Amino acid sequence: MSDFQLTRTLDERTAETALRTDVLEGLTRTPKVLPPKWFYDARGSELFEEITRLPEYYPTRAEREILQGRAGEIAAATGARTLVELGSGSSEKTRHLIEAMPGLDTYVPVDVSESALTGAAEALLADHPRLRVHALLADFTKALQLPDSPGPRLVVFLGGTIGNLLPPERAEFLASVRAMLSPGDALLMGTDLVKEESVLVAAYDDAQGVTAAFNKNVLAVVDRELGGDFHAADFAHVAVWNREHEWIEMRLRARSEARVKIRALDLVVPFAAGEEILTEISAKFREDGVRRELAAAGMELTHWWTDSAGRFALSLSVAEGGVV
Ligand code: AVJ
Repeated sequence: MSDFQLTRTLDERTAETALRTDVLEGLTRTPKVLPPKWFYDARGSELFEEITRLPEYYPTRAEREILQGRAGEIAAATGARTLVELGSGSSEKTRHLIEAMPGLDTYVPVDVSESALTGAAEALLADHPRLRVHALLADFTKALQLPDSPGPRLVVFLGGTIGNLLPPERAEFLASVRAMLSPGDALLMGTDLVKEESVLVAAYDDAQGVTAAFNKNVLAVVDRELGGDFHAADFAHVAVWNREHEWIEMRLRARSEARVKIRALDLVVPFAAGEEILTEISAKFREDGVRRELAAAGMELTHWWTDSAGRFALSLSVAEGGVV
């Protein structure tokens, strides 16, 4: 008997309005920006899956190694009966965790893709028919109303996606996570770590050009959804390490002067030759910084695990004053 529920807190209209606002604001300011969440249409999600298998892109493998090695410890430390996953995608990595948690009652995947949620739930329930799955179609950067389920809860946020947020956005996000935690609940978070520049840049500018295609896919999304006439070939993929802020910047650089029409916005966007759109930051972390940001949001880091090569970390933290 499988138990699956889906709660929608997103509708297509709000998504379309959000895209219009982001594109209008982002392409009429200097420097131009587009938020990374618009990479992930069906094609972009496929390209991201391909990125995770690239030789240069180590974070997914490194995080999987930690999860495989530490799942039992995480399960024992948290005693979680409910597992909430923010940005669950295919839920592939979370399986190790689910399988290590004998007391688990409810899994709450949260994602903006309904097809990812239903696909992941179906695959999980096939192997774990007694697990309750209560999926939330929601934007995890917004305050979430979690379903009623037994505690303790473990909230997991994997992949290093926290690195896509700017420091003030991270503070706001961590505060909203803190608000979901009751005494005894915990947060498990993946963060990519600061390392040699050449390794970082290669991870975001791979030899096969998959990351370049992923970056340019945002232009195809604007063209399709808002009647734009971007030509992806007129833009070059750029990945640079920002040493001051310790983050990777992905940008799209106009190869020559251009005027891009966006019909749904009644807008013409002028580009100078060499002008760039900032499409993503991917911040890299150090243990001290993670501990400090968690503390500022009212959480206390209790465990820090890295992969054997020290490239990526998982941190476990609790609401301040909690146990674990
Ligand atoms: C999914 C946000 C963790 O920042 O490494 C991969 C996205 N961008 N290659 C990352 C991404 C370019 C990825 N996150």
